[in-house]
Amino acid sequence: MGIKRYFCRRSSALSTAIQDDTYMEHTYNRILVTAALPYANGPVHIGHLAGCYLPADIFVRFQRSKKKDIKFVCGSDEHGVPITIRAMKEGVSPQQVVDKYHTLIKDSFQRMGISFDIYSRTSNPVHHETSAGIFKKIYDLGLFEEKETEQFFDETANVFLADRYITGTCPVCSNPGAYGDQCEKCGSTLSPEQLIDPRSTLSDAVPVKRKTKHWYFPLQDYEAWLKQWILEDHKEWKNNVYGQCKSWLDSGLQSRAMTRDSQWGVKVPLPDSEGKVLYVWFDAPIGYISATKELTANWADYWCKDDTRLVHFIGKDNIVFHCIIFPSMLKAHGGFVLPDNVPANEFLNIEGEKVSTSRNWAVWVHEYLNDFPGCEDVLRYVLCANAPETKDNDFTWKDFQDRNNSELVAVFGNFVNRAFVLMHKLCGGKVPKLHEDILEQKDTVILQEFKLTATKMEDAIEHYRFREALFEVIDLARKGNKYMQEKEPWIIARTLSEHPENQKAIDNCMHICLQLCANMAVMINPFLPDTARKLLYMMKVVDKMLDWENAGKTKLLSVGYSLREPQLLFRKIEDGEIEAQVMKLRAGSILPAAKTEVEAAVPEEPAKKELPGKPEIVFDDFAKIDLKVGTIKSAEKVAKADKLLRLEVDLGFETRTIVSGIALHFQPEEIIGRQVVVVVNLAPRKMKGVESRGMILMAEDAMGKLRFVSPSEAVEPGASVS
Ligand code: 2FM
Ligand code: ZN
Repeated sequence: MGIKRYFCRRSSALSTAIQDDTYMEHTYNRILVTAALPYANGPVHIGHLAGCYLPADIFVRFQRSKKKDIKFVCGSDEHGVPITIRAMKEGVSPQQVVDKYHTLIKDSFQRMGISFDIYSRTSNPVHHETSAGIFKKIYDLGLFEEKETEQFFDETANVFLADRYITGTCPVCSNPGAYGDQCEKCGSTLSPEQLIDPRSTLSDAVPVKRKTKHWYFPLQDYEAWLKQWILEDHKEWKNNVYGQCKSWLDSGLQSRAMTRDSQWGVKVPLPDSEGKVLYVWFDAPIGYISATKELTANWADYWCKDDTRLVHFIGKDNIVFHCIIFPSMLKAHGGFVLPDNVPANEFLNIEGEKVSTSRNWAVWVHEYLNDFPGCEDVLRYVLCANAPETKDNDFTWKDFQDRNNSELVAVFGNFVNRAFVLMHKLCGGKVPKLHEDILEQKDTVILQEFKLTATKMEDAIEHYRFREALFEVIDLARKGNKYMQEKEPWIIARTLSEHPENQKAIDNCMHICLQLCANMAVMINPFLPDTARKLLYMMKVVDKMLDWENAGKTKLLSVGYSLREPQLLFRKIEDGEIEAQVMKLRAGSILPAAKTEVEAAVPEEPAKKELPGKPEIVFDDFAKIDLKVGTIKSAEKVAKADKLLRLEVDLGFETRTIVSGIALHFQPEEIIGRQVVVVVNLAPRKMKGVESRGMILMAEDAMGKLRFVSPSEAVEPGASVS
């Protein structure tokens, strides 16, 4: 296998840390992709899929189609307190809990087409040996601190209590339900000692202090190294990831206990450590290594050779563990590769509210699979098109229906169907010839689009912008529909009796449309693998056609080859199906008050209600905003800020400097002369040293594309907008 290269843009992750815009070349010979090990204490929901497993799968399928040496590992995270609590609640052993959910989760992933090379579990002996071995090596190197501290203990449940399992009255706002780490009412960060009248959430007992010994990992010793490795050497990481790391590193790191008092987990491999296990966040990421060991005897190539591109796909709540703690552990141990990237996604809300497993506010994957059989690709499509790549996003059943009906059915499916139906009707069911002598500009333009689309997709996927890549495929189908509509081969067919030579024009149109269908199969394959297979079947071609090297080629189907009748790629989703899902969600959800104590004990982020729109305002609020039409007179990039353009905008009464974050969307020269709507009475603000006096209104579509808001006809600069 030859050397593989890919380019990584070395631009700033945060506008404050911009340095240059040069490109760095890395050379890698193999790729290892990990996806966060889900806790085996409940089923997976669509937020899990959108956050981590689907993007990872798209990336992996793409790299496989490029014939890269790649492994994709995952498994169940079977340790940790929430699992022991669920076992207590259900009156079963922790092993029974993880057995049940491991099977359910594995099955859901498999049915959704998440193509792991291995889906393992952390209760496997190889994992216990591997994680205990890594702990022992770090211990032997003398890198742990051994500390005896006092911790809260529940004498009734006979367990030490993590801060989250203690509740009491908040000393700041008197909320009686504050947790030992935080009051969700006033937002104060707390320690259990500060709570008034503290109680165990497990038994309601008053917790007592007990001495206990643990091994701490001195993260502060790795701070300088982490600052260099992340903040300097990985400026290309996603803004959300880089930003979170920066804020952790800026606030200073501290020692963290890497062991816990429990009977459930990987036993601490030291003498006199009965009743002590490894902290779940010590052992879980090592699960990636153990899974690779189970998968292949060559596991060390993937973990210990510098020419491995290691990529961790995770949700945003796992950033600190994958970017700071796990790399520091590996660094302390020595001999392992570190991640090249950690493309974490933000969260996916459901119908405007944060997912809450304890309130059953979630769309469970195993239930979706039962409710929408054969629609796995539809969910993959919607979750990718709406993935929370840069910010939290919202899943609504209405949007699910709209995207299916107006994008998959009306654009993608419709184009393929028309191409196949017309080919059977007008070309005898065979791929017709391309008559180069009568090619028109429209033909050559669409043929060029194949390659352009492939190139744009490749760049987007290599840089973890999966929404953008998916958008490109749909856009190509849209262009195909437009092309066919403009060429109107069915109209030309009416002229054939008088002008049989017109068959050549029909042939050209159908030839191009069919080659476009073949390209769509290659391009959609990483995203919607079932759809790609259906297309292969219709075209009677073998899997090999899906190799990425075919993306952009204009001669994938041989002339004279007979193709099958079209199959239905996507079906319409009816209103009734959507209403049933919304009702199920609302009927199944549990109000916070109905939570049992044990459920309440399962840590979860504060359930903030996020409305899809902004709160209602009165007319006077609106009237305070002074909106005027302006004309852009000049535009230039702001130095050391890859997102900002400095604009001079003629507002009639004066020309203003406005700094706008649109540089990634528009070239300066293309927007000169454009009319825009400006908020003129916004307080001035300095951005990258330039004072911006006003703001330009932009419309952002679901794919994150920006467009100017402009008057429908040219008006004098300074015209009021109301
Ligand atoms: O947040 C979670 O679901 C964790 N179980 C993720 C673990 S990822 C890795 F470190 F194993
Ligand atoms: Zn409070």
